[in-house]
Amino acid sequence: MSDVAHLLSIDDLGENLRSILEWAIHYKQDPDPDYDFKPLDEMSIGCIYEKPSTRTRVSFEVGIHKLGGQALTLLKGDIQMGKSETIADTGAVLSRFLDGITYRCYGHEMVVTLAENSTVPVINALSDKHHPCQAAADLMTIMERNPSLEGERVAWVGDGNNVLHDLMLACALLGVDCIWAVPPGFEPDSEVVERATKIAEGTGAEMIQTHDPVHACTGATIVYTDVFISMGEEHLTDKMAAFDGFQVNETLVSHASDDYGFMHCLPAHRGEEVTDGVIDSENSIVFDQAENRMWAQMAILTYLCNPPAFSAYTELY
Ligand code: CP
Ligand code: NVA
Repeated sequence: MSDVAHLLSIDDLGENLRSILEWAIHYKQDPDPDYDFKPLDEMSIGCIYEKPSTRTRVSFEVGIHKLGGQALTLLKGDIQMGKSETIADTGAVLSRFLDGITYRCYGHEMVVTLAENSTVPVINALSDKHHPCQAAADLMTIMERNPSLEGERVAWVGDGNNVLHDLMLACALLGVDCIWAVPPGFEPDSEVVERATKIAEGTGAEMIQTHDPVHACTGATIVYTDVFISMGEEHLTDKMAAFDGFQVNETLVSHASDDYGFMHCLPAHRGEEVTDGVIDSENSIVFDQAENRMWAQMAILTYLCNPPAFSAYTELY
């Protein structure tokens, strides 16, 4: 693997995560509208999708354009990769044309292989194990409400999935308590939990697993859920029965802090993991989260693809 930096899971950003999110918040607020800041000028970013996407695709395309770069969206069905060409050869070839690659894939090992064989930064745009761009936007959204993050307690209710993995890692990195309530048998990956717990030991965050949604939500400042059946699991219809009692509804959120924020990475299956009453309530910040995908990814792209420009911009604030 070349020594270029990639983003495969959110902990790849390490202790720089906070400054990247602060950068994103400043950039969103536009501290100097006259500053012609185009850190991706003359750069091209390839965005490969094996699964559908609304937020990720649009936020990358628009964000790359705003940074002065060119986005090439490459749908799996339209390129050779996985049919007549390996992921490794694709990474080597695309590295000769592009300045960065984003990749939404099924198995996490596929984005790892792409990164191992690319000489430009590779950003995981969702795999079955990690969704780092989502976690960056999520913690940015919480920081917008509470810049110091002090006193935050994030409660996850639902499946132990890719979104939870990076959410707990991001909370651990930023010193935010995270408690997840999952049905027995649907716990998050133990290797990711170990990583998060180890990071949290250094930042003072609590990482707690429970099977009780009320326990998780009691006193929470953020209540977060996601679909019970992720992309690629559509055949696992039996899974749904395990999630009885894990719907985020008005009764469950009554245990959270009065000014709690409701979060969901979207798309939401209304009436399954969350009720309309919760997702449409004044506490819901799901559309801020969706918008922040773009700002957080713009910060990440600049950090990975043009580090001097990332540093130069911080001098504006
Ligand atoms: N949250 C998220 O990744 O949404 P999309 O699947 O629409 O990209
Ligand atoms: N856990 C979901 C997230 C979608 C953004 C999935 O992987 O399908």
